[in-house]
Amino acid sequence: MAAEPVTAPVVERVDTTVGSVNPVDTSAPGRETGRVEKLRRSRGGRAALWAVGILVVLALAVFTARWLMTTEPVQSFVARYPGETELPPGAPVGFPAWLAWQHFFNIFLMVLIIRSGWQVRTQRRPPATWTARWGANPKKISINLWLHQSLDILWMVNGALFVVLLISTGQWMRVVPTSWEVFPNALSAILQYASLDWPTENGWVNYNSLQVIAYFVAIFVAAPLAAFTGFRMSGAWPSKAQVLSKIYPVEVARAIHLPVMFYFLGFIVVHVALVLSTGALRNLNHMYGGQDAVNWYGFWIFFVSLLIIVGGWFAARPLFLAPIASLFGKVGR
Ligand code: HEM
Repeated sequence: MAAEPVTAPVVERVDTTVGSVNPVDTSAPGRETGRVEKLRRSRGGRAALWAVGILVVLALAVFTARWLMTTEPVQSFVARYPGETELPPGAPVGFPAWLAWQHFFNIFLMVLIIRSGWQVRTQRRPPATWTARWGANPKKISINLWLHQSLDILWMVNGALFVVLLISTGQWMRVVPTSWEVFPNALSAILQYASLDWPTENGWVNYNSLQVIAYFVAIFVAAPLAAFTGFRMSGAWPSKAQVLSKIYPVEVARAIHLPVMFYFLGFIVVHVALVLSTGALRNLNHMYGGQDAVNWYGFWIFFVSLLIIVGGWFAARPLFLAPIASLFGKVGR
């Protein structure tokens, strides 16, 4: 109020002026540091500093890659390794319906798994509790943990079936590296992305090597790691097996489980951004429409699938969860 002009130091007011030409302002390094310090302390300021930092790093990466692409050795490297490796003979073309369905179930479950996992981690007082009806000494857990673990079981069943079908239909050849050349080709794809001259691969037939590695890691490394570490922390772990518990301490599982979640979050952000920015209609038609064409068919199926996911997000609350949870155990406060 009236006190503001008096209490606010004059220097501060000068400092906040964009493009200030005040000589005192620019010649006082102590004050400059103070300003950055102030920015770092406030939440919004920290976010802004991060955003600026990330933009600077990205801009540097683009300039460096573009410059590298003008040099002869890099040009011949990219000519030799165009960004994708040849598929083994007999590799399938396109996406069968089972793959599209499983991809959808995976997203649906994953969104709710990440959300409920985060709630388990951050909520002090759960909105309801759940106790199993079986076992000698069942533990009371939060309803969010019940949801998290129930969805995990569905996610693992979906994933196991996915791997079985990948193997039995030959579809694995598209997402498992079959030659060491996948590494230089992935580097080539990184250079092409970074120079903003994006690889023009056709995901209907073959993924670029960076995609192959990312999909392989998601399916065969990150997903099993999430399951294996989650199992260790869950009530399903045989806690009486003392030697086993000592060999594989719960702290180790906990230390891995959360970074895996962040890996998945990062994967999803980059994956969806690339799907949408490298020919959205065609890509969505691949995975959702079962065709290699540029029209809105796949987009609308994708849109409906998003509505179902949003519906699941809003339905995942005690009002709707309690009746389901009480089929398997006791729900309380
Ligand atoms: C709304 C979110 C998502 C969208 C729109 C989406 C879309 C797509 C599309 C269009 C493709 C085919 C790419 C191409 O034709 O070049 C694809 C493949 C794939 N996506 Fe997603 N995706 C999403 C979320 C996820 C999530 C959460 C995961 C798992 C962590 C995932 C894992 C995969 C895998 C492993 C493949 C390769 C499948 C194969 O060929 O066997 N996706 N996705």
